[in-house]
Amino acid sequence: MADLGVFVDRQVMGSSEQLTALIRLREQAEAMGHGVYFIFPVEVRKVARVDGLFIRSRTDPLHISYVAAKIAEFHGIPVIDDPVSIQVCSDKVNMYLHLMEKQVRIPETRFLSKGDITRSGADDVFSTLGRPVILKEPSTSFSLRVEKVETVDQFLKVAKRFIKLSDWIVAQQYLSSSYDWRIGVLDGELLYAAQYIIPSETFKIQDTVNGHLVYCAVRSVPAPEVPRPVIETGLAAARAIGRGLYGVDIKECDGVPYVIEVNDNPSLEGGEDTSYPDLNRRIVAALVGEGPG
Ligand SMILES: Nc1ncnc2c1ncn2[C@@H]1O[C@H](COP(=O)(O)OP(=O)(O)O)[C@@H](O)[C@H]1O
Ligand SMILES: [Mg+2]
Repeated sequence: MADLGVFVDRQVMGSSEQLTALIRLREQAEAMGHGVYFIFPVEVRKVARVDGLFIRSRTDPLHISYVAAKIAEFHGIPVIDDPVSIQVCSDKVNMYLHLMEKQVRIPETRFLSKGDITRSGADDVFSTLGRPVILKEPSTSFSLRVEKVETVDQFLKVAKRFIKLSDWIVAQQYLSSSYDWRIGVLDGELLYAAQYIIPSETFKIQDTVNGHLVYCAVRSVPAPEVPRPVIETGLAAARAIGRGLYGVDIKECDGVPYVIEVNDNPSLEGGEDTSYPDLNRRIVAALVGEGPG
């Protein structure tokens, strides 16, 4: 019997979907003979006492969850997400460099610095990446700082805003699709697959439209129904980052998969597991060192 720690915060516990998902995880762990303890930021020191740590609060190297991951790593405790995965995935430039190094296909991408944010720089970006172009501030999450720009003026407006927050910004070829594939990978193997269906009001999986939040619908898709190249690309992308738990976002264009992003700490509370009843068992097994089983 192992003691499993789940690192959470008030925000996570305040969401009924996340709370329900965490209770189901706990029931699964208990059915396997393990205990589950929720650990809150103020008691982060307790991380040192558990046998495995699952981080379910927002991850970022500037966030207390990173301290939790570091404490676990220091004590040799299995941890999802591990510090390196948090660090790499929280910076899109770093994340894309890992994918490029392993030749994982991504949309045509350029990293721009301040000197590129001029009228002639914008023309150059449109002539190499096409029009429209996607701009991202590297530390974005929840689609917050991802914008589609069509004109030089729009480019300059968004790029100037983003470059205040970061030394580099990402400019990317726009790939149109009605959904993103989300490929869940644990320890280099497929954990689940889902489609995140993009709301009709926007081009990204979540957005604020006229002051209202709009979210994608989630459709869990059984593995045999997912195109093989999409799964293979998801696995390759996750393995380019590490051996933890990742949610890989993929767009298919003319049957060719392109990785949009690798997320550490992927959401699991949206119904991702509907076609994968084994999902929680596999996560618990990985954290208590029982292997895939
Ligand atoms: N190159 C692209 N072409 C079209 N849509 C994109 C592109 N990049 C991102 N998006 C859309 O924007 C969403 C957010 O982008 P993403 O890179 O995942 O940033 P974040 O980390 O903020 O979620 C994606 O899920 C996708 O739907
Ligand atoms: Mg994303």
